[in-house]
Amino acid sequence: MIKIGDAAVSEQKVVETTPVTSPEEEKKAEKKSTSTKKAKSRGQSLAIKDLQQNKKEEDDELNSFKNNIYVVFVECETPGNIGFLARTMANFGLKNLVLINPPKLTPEAYYQATHGKYIVENALTYPSLDEFYQSKRIDFKIASTGIAGGSYNLSRIPLKPEQLSESININNKIALLFGREGDGLSNKEIDDCDICVSIPTDPTYPILNISHAAAIIFYELFKNKHEYAVEGLEESSSLEKEYLIKDMTDLINTLDIPEHKKKNGLKTFKNIINRAFITGREAHTFKGILRRLKNKLE
Ligand SMILES: C[S@@+](CC[C@H](N)C(=O)[O-])C[C@H]1O[C@@H](n2cnc3c(N)ncnc32)[C@H](O)[C@@H]1O
Repeated sequence: MIKIGDAAVSEQKVVETTPVTSPEEEKKAEKKSTSTKKAKSRGQSLAIKDLQQNKKEEDDELNSFKNNIYVVFVECETPGNIGFLARTMANFGLKNLVLINPPKLTPEAYYQATHGKYIVENALTYPSLDEFYQSKRIDFKIASTGIAGGSYNLSRIPLKPEQLSESININNKIALLFGREGDGLSNKEIDDCDICVSIPTDPTYPILNISHAAAIIFYELFKNKHEYAVEGLEESSSLEKEYLIKDMTDLINTLDIPEHKKKNGLKTFKNIINRAFITGREAHTFKGILRRLKNKLE
């Protein structure tokens, strides 16, 4: 039995459907086919260029991801956990490990790192967070915590890792902080950060082991690293935000309200600015308005 697609059927079809053509028509057809071929090859080389460009952008993105994220372990208590953290970093291509006032690194730290041993070997050590921030000129600081605050705890209103990943600008220098095994990060350390990230967990036991928490956050950051910021919508720099916050501070200070209300107002403003990931142009426009408001009030 002959089935559709069998050679005999196809050949028969070709014979039956090939039309008779004049020499002029043949010439025209040949010309058309040559220009189609040329267009096709032009199209192909454009497509290859696009692919190459995409690949380059992906490589740049990956490099920024690897170079600009500093994973900061604050006052780690158990050297083995440094190793576990380094291993997790290696899984997601991260390499900058920063240890703030760490314990002595015992062989356990290197052993637990397995293929991430080089990360422990190259870890940067600082006596305090401030010294690290100053030395690396960090643009954006992220605190991680298992104890997310309610809406009244202004410093601890968190983003989920996925939300963080969607908005983060990895062209900035970013510090991602993990806290002590026993006490986590202090309120001051969280307060000094631009934003706070918390992994949603069962409220009866919200605290994850540090390297488990790190794995979830790294994964969310990693999976979006091939997505690019839309041109013209680049996030404002830390300096632009600083100026904006300074103008808001000046404006709030002209108000006749109690100090604690000023402090809360400013903290709320900072939270909104950092969560919103405003663009440079937006920061500039808003800053102009704040300045005019202040001038009007004076
Ligand atoms: C063992 S936990 C610290 C526990 C500490 N008792 C506390 O209250 O924060 C060590 C670190 O892991 C990270 N971590 C733990 N659970 C987390 C979660 N649910 N979301 C985000 N980070 C978490 C935080 O950086 C935390 O400081």
